[in-house]
Amino acid sequence: MRLACGELPGWDVCTVDNIAAARKVLEQQHYAVGLLLDRKGNLESEDIERFLQHHHQIRWIGVFNGDLLHRPQLREAIATHLSDFHTLPVDTVRLYHSLGHAHGMAMLAKSAPPHKRQSGSRHIDGKSATICRLRAHIDKIATVDAPVLISGESGSGKELAAQEIHAQSPRASGPFIAINCAAIPPSLIHSELFGYERGAFTGAAKEKQGLIEAASGGSIFLDEIGDLPLDLQASLLRFLQERTIYRVGGTRMVSVDARVITATHVDLPKAVAAGRFREDLYYRLSVFPIRVPPLRERKEDLPLLTEIIFNKFADEKSPQLKGISKQALRAMTQHDWPGNIRELINRMRRAMVLAENRLIMPEDLELAPQEDAIILRDGLDNSRGSAERAAIWNSLARCGNNISQAARDLGVSRMTLYRLMAKHSIAP
Ligand SMILES: Nc1ncnc2c1ncn2[C@@H]1O[C@H](COP(=O)(O)OP(=O)(O)O)[C@@H](O)[C@H]1O
Ligand SMILES: [Mg+2]
Repeated sequence: MRLACGELPGWDVCTVDNIAAARKVLEQQHYAVGLLLDRKGNLESEDIERFLQHHHQIRWIGVFNGDLLHRPQLREAIATHLSDFHTLPVDTVRLYHSLGHAHGMAMLAKSAPPHKRQSGSRHIDGKSATICRLRAHIDKIATVDAPVLISGESGSGKELAAQEIHAQSPRASGPFIAINCAAIPPSLIHSELFGYERGAFTGAAKEKQGLIEAASGGSIFLDEIGDLPLDLQASLLRFLQERTIYRVGGTRMVSVDARVITATHVDLPKAVAAGRFREDLYYRLSVFPIRVPPLRERKEDLPLLTEIIFNKFADEKSPQLKGISKQALRAMTQHDWPGNIRELINRMRRAMVLAENRLIMPEDLELAPQEDAIILRDGLDNSRGSAERAAIWNSLARCGNNISQAARDLGVSRMTLYRLMAKHSIAP
């Protein structure tokens, strides 16, 4: 196969012989227009399909032998992915015309080149003032070897901020170990964090290193620190002060060199006031407090974030989908995003699979129009149905499709939620 012919005057042309080579070139360089030349029908339709789907941002023009057009898969790939196609022998005038047209359309759409992440570049995307401030803050505290307390709503990017602090710190080549204190049963958390000696309890046949020790030379990220039981808060405080730990059942002091980064979505000063969190530990942890802003405080980042998500999950999208409509972006701006970026990713991924048009519409994101408009249009019974469906959908999106959590959120049992999902044809 050739992607482009060498003899096209006025064009910056790169020619390759097969799909693998084309993939390589396109990883490095963005092209506005691609020419897919398959004289003899050597290419597998499935390969073409996958390749075109992945590089959907390029406007493709096909050149095929007319005999091949009876193949249903090829016909479908042409209809779905190509801006235009020609049969051999090529009428060069018409081909130039076609290329020019595709190029003009590409310039009009001003589709930005696919977002590339250079290795080592930062993960926290966004151009808003609040995100720029956060990044500047992270740059500064990354170099200082002191505890950091990250606060922010669920799904706003706290773990990402922790990873970034570690990646920019002198400890970057050491381990980054993340543990969610809320996800581990309180009875296990002590031995998970601090490890245990042989015979510390029934079943402890061998000694085991804890996660804090495993993070030696790097950073340990304790997520949902507000859920750490009080006795463990004392052990953690001891570690922060002395840089040493005791394993469960041990009398030997082990010194550990790990930076502690913590995160919470609850208001820790309130937990301190209520006696649920040690005040001395709070002050130790919050030497450098940073706040990750919720998505609703930086809605100007929505176009960039949706574009990044669109490109990241392009392999999963329905084939004819080309982008996001203005209406969908407007609906996104009006939405409050209680589940933050995690909710945005969930809604986008679902919409990209389910969308039936060329552009994602507000309905694909389940961002419903105003409620009174629904009632006027649909009558009361249907409005109840739509409201129920929207509530379930929103809750699933917020909870990252976790059924138990969504059921709790909605105040129904898991069984009821499954039944309602079936009723509204919502896939788990
Ligand atoms: N600024 C951002 N740019 C790109 N992706 C982000 C950003 N913030 C968060 N994410 C993504 O959103 C999801 C939730 O982020 P996470 O750090 O786990 O949130 P939290 O720990 O606050 O619940 C992750 O998939 C993460 O990669
Ligand atoms: Mg998290």
